[in-house]
Amino acid sequence: MAVDYAVRDGVAVITLDNPPVNGLGHSTRLGILEGVERAGHDANVRALVLIGAGKAFSGGADITEFNTPKATQEPTLMTVIKAVEASAKPVVAAIHAVAMGGGLELALGAHYRIAAPGAQIALPEVKLGLLPGAGGTQRLPRAVGLETALNMIVSGTPVSSEKLAQTALFDEIAEGDLLDAALAFANRAAEREGPHPKVRDRPIAHPNAEGFIQFARNSVAAVAKHFPAPHKCIDAIEKGVQEGFERGLAFERECFLALVQTPESRALRHAFFGERAAGKIADVPSNTPVRKIERIGVVGAGTMGGGIAMNFLNAGLPVVLLETKQDALDRGIATIRRNYEAQAKKGKLTPEKLEERMALIRPTLAYADLAQADLIIEAVFEELSVKEQVFRQLDEIAKPGAILASNTSTLDLNKIAAFTKRPGDVVGLHFFSPANVMKLLEVVRGAKTDKDVLASVMQLAKKIRKTAVVSGVCDGFIGNRMIEQYIRQALFMLEEGALPAQIDRAIEKFGFAMGPFRMSDLAGNDIGWAIRKRRYREQPELRYSRVADRLCEMGRFGQKTGAGWYDYEPGRRDAQPSKIVDEMIFAYSKEQGAGRRRIGDEEIVERLVLSLVNEGAKILEEGIAAKASDIDMVYLTGYGFPLWRGGPMLYADTIGLYNVERAIRKYAQQPNGEAWRPAARVSELAASAGRFNV
Ligand code: NAI
Repeated sequence: MAVDYAVRDGVAVITLDNPPVNGLGHSTRLGILEGVERAGHDANVRALVLIGAGKAFSGGADITEFNTPKATQEPTLMTVIKAVEASAKPVVAAIHAVAMGGGLELALGAHYRIAAPGAQIALPEVKLGLLPGAGGTQRLPRAVGLETALNMIVSGTPVSSEKLAQTALFDEIAEGDLLDAALAFANRAAEREGPHPKVRDRPIAHPNAEGFIQFARNSVAAVAKHFPAPHKCIDAIEKGVQEGFERGLAFERECFLALVQTPESRALRHAFFGERAAGKIADVPSNTPVRKIERIGVVGAGTMGGGIAMNFLNAGLPVVLLETKQDALDRGIATIRRNYEAQAKKGKLTPEKLEERMALIRPTLAYADLAQADLIIEAVFEELSVKEQVFRQLDEIAKPGAILASNTSTLDLNKIAAFTKRPGDVVGLHFFSPANVMKLLEVVRGAKTDKDVLASVMQLAKKIRKTAVVSGVCDGFIGNRMIEQYIRQALFMLEEGALPAQIDRAIEKFGFAMGPFRMSDLAGNDIGWAIRKRRYREQPELRYSRVADRLCEMGRFGQKTGAGWYDYEPGRRDAQPSKIVDEMIFAYSKEQGAGRRRIGDEEIVERLVLSLVNEGAKILEEGIAAKASDIDMVYLTGYGFPLWRGGPMLYADTIGLYNVERAIRKYAQQPNGEAWRPAARVSELAASAGRFNV
């Protein structure tokens, strides 16, 4: 039973009991409503208390009901709140730990509210591209005032109960046992003459409501230009201010129903559920035992090793950092300290915390010092022979059961695992640069990786606040394998008639954080060059435009050499279009004998994005990614794909696979068309009107 009913001391205690956070699913809503009615009829009951069992008052809507008929089945939350508010006997909501979304809206329907200190109070619907749909936009401003309410609703950020103690939201902050305090409060309330106060009857006090709302609108326009929900939140609040509670409520409902249908809300919900789904691996049940991971070893203190180490230091886990030479080790440690000092300068880290973190790190040149580590992550040069050396040594010294991970971005993890006598303990942990900042972690599952190793690193990823996505073994894994096709298209388009700045501008307008050429200049053009050289050897049939090789032959490796696809003034990172590069591109096109043509922005975006989609489809066919949403999570968290479009696979669903396939066939007819063969999965879905994300 999701709700418990008991009478204590003349007070009906209605306890929400739907773990983990008392989500307001259908049975919970029904239970509350029945409790309220039963208490109304019971002559022995003088007052009611609504309280949550376990970890929360209520976290709001039951997310397992999202997109199911149960979400809207009566009694809806609106109906429940109406009944609570209409109760002739006083209702006291007793809030601890969490009152969010529908949970807070329910409490706002009660006549009185008391809270334990430290409870997190929020209306986070905006984060899913929605607005609070059960009176939140109307009641919260009446309880906490216009400004606080608007900030809470538009940001979705939690505020602690003490901060709201002085508002009409709370009648009391209860130290000590919450239920005891609620019972005492309820008995006192029952003594009062009715009717009991309703939040809806309170005025919205503000000396200049209109001015403030206009100010809020301007601020939101600046930060949320791609998302309609924050604007609608303001509209709904304004309606209540201008036309009163009932009209405001009706308008809120209208806005809610409209927002649910927007692609932006779909994208945000897709990302929300995609993140959770990424953590679930079909053949690794959630009760798989995990290995204890408390001590970390990192091999290689370069760009990646240092950033990787910081993740664990930040989480309070001690790290032993190994290098081959003292100076490389010193440099690595100094870089970590410099990064922390930069954070401290910005006020993000106290000097004490900085020292605490640095004290957790132990530099070493001796493999023996890694013997106690529960997890060792290798981040040395990207050469199989170097990886071999490292893994053979790790196999010698690591304790039994230690997890051995590689941060390789292109090498075959199964080969790396085979360098050890314990391939079941080997896994890929592919961090993205800068590793202490980027959210994405590709967890590479080798053919022999043990299930408990996977379960353990997935849990660890949460601890270091990464979005972990499992990838099978293939060249480039999910993210880089797809981006290679995208870059290939970008280079073909240079050859056919576009220039770097035009391509970057078009895809940035689509919403990418950075276009392919600015990205390449940042990462270093030599990295792609090395990969292409390998391709030319290993897959001579895979045709590439050689225009990028020309650039590298000119020594233009990107920002680090002050010149790449763009020119960079010394010490600056802003990309200036380069005459030299333009001329090189013109000359290259000429040599190829193909005339240059004007390429429209629409074609640029279509070719770049659909190249991702088509390769993503192949990745699904091959089982490298288990589900389309995993691919979307990789692109949203690691590659700057616009959040409001939900990732390449959801974007393909939105435009329809029929249209995707048609466009691919069209490009297959054009010059460089051999790069375009629709993936079987694309054709199947196009024929069956299917979607990647079901
Ligand atoms: P890096 O060159 O900055 O650092 C490598 C470090 O490993 C150097 O400090 C070197 O002294 C050390 N090293 C070399 N051999 C060693 C050995 N036998 N034992 C101990 N230390 C040794 O390279 P970076 O960029 O940090 O890359 C490391 C790994 O991470 C590579 O496998 C790379 O493919 C991968 N990676 C790199 C990304 C990037 O954006 N740079 C992104 C994701 C993965």
